[in-house]
Order: sequence, then C-alpha cells, then structure tokens
Amino acid sequence: MDDSRETNANEAISEKRVIGIRRLKEPMPTPIKTRIFTVANQKGGVGKTTSAVNIAAALAMGGLRTLVIDLDPQGNACTALGIDRRNKPGMYEVLVKDRPFAEIVQKVAGFPHLECAPADRELAAAEINMVGMVARESRLKISLTKYLHDREANGERFDYVIIDCPPSLGLLTVNALTVAEEVLVPIQCEYYSLEGLTLLIETLNQIQQILNPVVKISTIVLTMFDSRTRLANDVANSVRQHFPNELIDTPIPRAVRISEAPSFNQTVMTYDALSPGAIAYMTVAREIARRGNPTTNNEVHTA
Ligand SMILES: Nc1ncnc2c1ncn2[C@@H]1O[C@H](COP(=O)(O)OP(=O)(O)O)[C@@H](O)[C@H]1O
Ligand SMILES: [Mg+2]
Repeated sequence: MDDSRETNANEAISEKRVIGIRRLKEPMPTPIKTRIFTVANQKGGVGKTTSAVNIAAALAMGGLRTLVIDLDPQGNACTALGIDRRNKPGMYEVLVKDRPFAEIVQKVAGFPHLECAPADRELAAAEINMVGMVARESRLKISLTKYLHDREANGERFDYVIIDCPPSLGLLTVNALTVAEEVLVPIQCEYYSLEGLTLLIETLNQIQQILNPVVKISTIVLTMFDSRTRLANDVANSVRQHFPNELIDTPIPRAVRISEAPSFNQTVMTYDALSPGAIAYMTVAREIARRGNPTTNNEVHTA
C-alpha cells in the first residue's frame, strides 16, 4: 500500500491533521438561552468583521446554531460567508420596511448550523431613513426578538447571534447595542486602541441608562497580534489590567491566511482550518462558549 511508503515526516503531519480535525469537531456547550453578541468598535480595520464571521463559523462547527447579522452597509461579513446579496432583501428591508427576518435570512453554504441576515445595498441609507421613526433605536430589537421567538417555537432555536457593526457609533450600532446583552470588542494592539474604547464605553453607558440596562462588554479579543513587538505586548498588558475578566487569553495572530480567506468567499475556518489563525479563532470560540455555560464557568448559583 502507498501508505507504507510514507516518510516519518508525513506520518507526523497526518497524525497532526487527525488530531486537529477531531478537536475542530468536538461539540461546544450549549448556552441556556440565546446569547446575542454585538461586535463593536468605532474604529475601522480593527478586525470586527473578521472576528464576527470566524467566531460564528467556529461556534457553528462546534455544533451551535448561529446567526450572523451583517449590519455594515459594506457587506464584508456577507463576502466572507459567501452570501449572495445581489437583488436580495437584507437588513434595510427589516429595519426600515418591517420585512420579517424569516424572509431575508440565508443559509451559509458548507455549514449546517450557520445562517446569515445579509446587508443589502440600501442599508447605507438606513440611518437617515430611521431618524424620523418611532423607537428608532429599538427597530432591530423588535424584529429580532420576534424572529428568535418564532424560531424557538419551531424547535430551531439559535444558540448564538453575532452582529457585525459598521465602524461608527451611529444608529445602526446603537440598534445592535440595544438588542444585545453582550458586546465583543476586537482590539488591535496599537497606540490609540484604548482611547477609542473610552468613547465606546461612554456610548454604552448611555444605552444602559436609557435603552438596555443589561448590555455590557463581556468579551475582548486582541486581533492582528504580533508578539514580537513591544507595543503589542504593552497594549495587551494594559487591556488585561483594565479588563481582567473580559479579555480572552488567546490573541488572534496577524496571519496571511486570515486576510486571504475573504477573497475566496470563505472564513479562515474552512479556507485553512489548521492554520494558526483558524486555530486561534477556534480557541477563542471555545472559550466564549465555555464562559457562557454555567455548568463549566465556576459560577456559584445560590437560591
Ligand atoms: N488576524 C489578522 N491577520 C491578518 N489580517 C487580518 C487579521 N484580522 C483582520 N485582518 C485584515 O484586516 C483588514 C480589516 O479587518 P476587518 O475585520 O475587515 O476590520 P473591521 O471590520 O473592524 O473594519 C481586513 O483586510 C482583514 O482581512
Ligand atoms: Mg467590518
């Protein structure tokens, strides 16, 4: 057999692949109720979309039913998930025209547990068109809550909803922060990263007071991390100091495969599942799932 002629090196590689794939397929703990995450940071290019789609893909690979909502008019999350948004209704229709979620959600090819509510071309006009509406900050909350309820009633409950936001704190992001209980903040370790965080926290405080008392920053992920630079380590230490409970210990390394994947309409989880970037996102997703499960996160419940 050909196998018998494999070199030791090849055997080592195939062994590694088997272990890697087995770990990818290991199921993750199911949360008690649907966890809604808003991925927010008003800075552009910090890894919001990359984190949203890859964490969602990793959760789905762990067997958790996951919905990605693309709330950025640029539609980058759709691109990475291979979602066709030409002439298809999307989030503008939901937010401005009251179209039900059920009519816009698409299945993501290759992932039995992953679905996506796409950004349509008109979404860029949503902020302006929502300004005069009643409960303009709660449009997403009203429509999403109904959809999640209907899905649950059909026995198709989502375990996770991950909302990808545009790089601003405008009405679309405010809508996302109003429906979520948890905010995931990707931080790129560079000089001004923490200053941007202050503004996000101020906005969040206002939303807590008026619109959504339970929302909080639950998760911080360091992105495009380069452990060789002093600055990256300094920023990481500073984030750890301020957010010891929120920071996920595994940083996402700067990795070529992560940045290549979207041009093939893929997440890195399928594009190169055993690359360091994919393994890092899988580790982060596992940690998120573990923290959300009260049987594994050491929380003590008293009566
Ligand atoms: N870990 C990473 N390694 C290399 N490139 C990355 C990484 N994370 C993101 N990128 C790239 O950086 C750019 C910005 O990331 P993106 O997720 O689109 O940011 P945002 O959504 O915050 O604007 C994209 O081109 C993306 O492919
Ligand atoms: Mg983005």
